[in-house]
Amino acid sequence: MSNPSKAELIHMFKGIPFTTRSSPELLKSLDTFDAREDDVLLVSYPKSGTHWLAGVLTKLYNTQVTLTSPIEFGDISKLEELNKLSSKRIIPTHLDYNMLPPNFKNKKCKMIYISRNPKDTAVSMYHYYRDNPNLPTIDTWTAFFDLFLKGDVVCGSWFDHFLSWEEHENDKNILFLFYEDMKKDLPKTVKEISLFLGLNVSDNDIQDICKKSSFSEMKSDTEKENNDPSHTVCVLTSNRKLIFRKGAVGDWKNYFTPKQNQSFEEVFNEKMKLSKM
Ligand code: A3P
Repeated sequence: MSNPSKAELIHMFKGIPFTTRSSPELLKSLDTFDAREDDVLLVSYPKSGTHWLAGVLTKLYNTQVTLTSPIEFGDISKLEELNKLSSKRIIPTHLDYNMLPPNFKNKKCKMIYISRNPKDTAVSMYHYYRDNPNLPTIDTWTAFFDLFLKGDVVCGSWFDHFLSWEEHENDKNILFLFYEDMKKDLPKTVKEISLFLGLNVSDNDIQDICKKSSFSEMKSDTEKENNDPSHTVCVLTSNRKLIFRKGAVGDWKNYFTPKQNQSFEEVFNEKMKLSKM
């Protein structure tokens, strides 16, 4: 059987490519979603460390919380399913700020946005595309690099996504985190998250959470949980081995040619000229 074509796997909604796992009906109905004041949103562009942060967040609570799949994944029944959950909800999303259900904004729900060097994000996403039958076939890194730079990948342009959220960096209900800071000093970031969420977590517990959230621990947990898709934030795969690939900073240097790096820098400088990044 041949691989599904790009047209079968991807559709456009408001100018952004989504996989067909996000039904157009669901995407249209997001505006009506009824948020709860205690919902916590985990926001990211794909391959920025979403699963890592999700692992940390769920360990921070000592009350029952439910980590859902991303709000934009599924069909129209998704919103109903989320409504039925009685426990506190941690809801991941790859939506840009403009597409976020307005109720989350009106109710000032807490949101954590995790970002990562877009060059490493691009390399991570390249591997994810390559190894995931639910995404269009990619032949070479060069081909993927061009698509990434144009924003012709799932969730659209990294730059547009980041900028849409960065505009709200001073909103009190939004915490901005960087993958690289988590790599450098995880306990510091975990402390920051716990303060933001108003959770009282001891230094001992923070150390313990960090130990359990290391790349090697999380990767080895995957072997145990691999058959349970509910353990994967991203519904594009139930194979967690695809998520925990290398977990490094600077892997882009093994992929970018000097010319690609220059093209990337040019687009970055142009797109991000008003950004503080
Ligand atoms: P790489 O492909 O560069 O290894 P997401 O969860 O948003 O899909 O992001 C996946 C990326 O986060 C992958 O990057 C993955 O290895 C990395 N990652 C996942 N858990 C991690 C951890 N505990 N520590 C460091 N990186 C982690």
